[in-house]
Amino acid sequence: MAKENIFAHSWQFIGDTDQVKDPGWATPVNLLENYLNEPLLLSRDKQGELHCLSNVCTYRGNLIVEKPCKLNDIRCKYHGRRFHLDGKFLSMPEFKEVGNFPTKDDDLTKLPLFQFGKWLFTSLNQTISSDAFFSDMMKRVAWMPFQDFHFRPELSNDYVVEANWALYCENYLEGFHIPFVHAGLNAVIDYGNYTTELFPYSSLQVGLAKDQDGEVFDLPPASPDFGKHVVGYYFWVFPNMMFNFYPWGLSINLVKPIDIAKCKVSFLSYVWDENKLRQGAGANLHQVEMEDEDVVQHVQKGIRSRFYKHGRYSVTRETGTHHFHQLIAKFMNP
Ligand code: FES
Ligand SMILES: [Fe+2]
Repeated sequence: MAKENIFAHSWQFIGDTDQVKDPGWATPVNLLENYLNEPLLLSRDKQGELHCLSNVCTYRGNLIVEKPCKLNDIRCKYHGRRFHLDGKFLSMPEFKEVGNFPTKDDDLTKLPLFQFGKWLFTSLNQTISSDAFFSDMMKRVAWMPFQDFHFRPELSNDYVVEANWALYCENYLEGFHIPFVHAGLNAVIDYGNYTTELFPYSSLQVGLAKDQDGEVFDLPPASPDFGKHVVGYYFWVFPNMMFNFYPWGLSINLVKPIDIAKCKVSFLSYVWDENKLRQGAGANLHQVEMEDEDVVQHVQKGIRSRFYKHGRYSVTRETGTHHFHQLIAKFMNP
């Protein structure tokens, strides 16, 4: 149910523009491996335009592109069907006698593609515009030079968490637990002035500095937060994406369901200012992750108890979690 109602109907991260940097590049993406398992293909055509296509041949269903490569056109290895880089059918051997061929059903299925900065997203069954999901975040951080954010594989990591994906998100969506669970983070964040803002399909938590000499954003006057000592912007986009902006850059967290009580969280680091890397609220993401994992894994065990029903919400501290639950209810009962 959640797979179709929530994940297939929302926008999902599929990669960044550096993976299809030049015309002719094609990169396969298995969208949410172990869950949606949808074989997709990112391509950049000869005119430089980006496309998100199905990576499944329209003839007998072979997977077409197996690894990132540079191509003149897309050619299926099985029986030689060829497609343009924008997915349009190009040619097919031994099909001269076939009537009414080709039709548009012979083109590769094209999916919507949305770009924010250098990051790319698609929706398998789009019912809501990308704007509704991303525009509030985009406006807030519009001043940041995203082209200077560089992916750093050695600072990126996958964490397997023995908990349902939604429990992981619930934990992320409130700062209520910071003083109890994250001693290190609590030392740099001003918990009293920690805020949560709700948008239609996303929310934002803003962390302010506890003291004046902490590592903060150098905000330009164009920023709506100009004058504040912001240590981190914690954006969440429904249902499973987190965009954590720190003075050093961006940590994207993608929560990928595996089964009912297991998920994989991919941390992707994009560094903008190397000098600020090990400072402030985003100094030790691994430590914070271990603390969150520990508590979320205990909750996964706790909610299975026959005695646990549900809890209430803190009015001041859990608006983000409440908003998440409302969105889940809305998508599960369309
Ligand atoms: S499956 Fe692609 S050409 Fe046969
Ligand atoms: Fe946490």
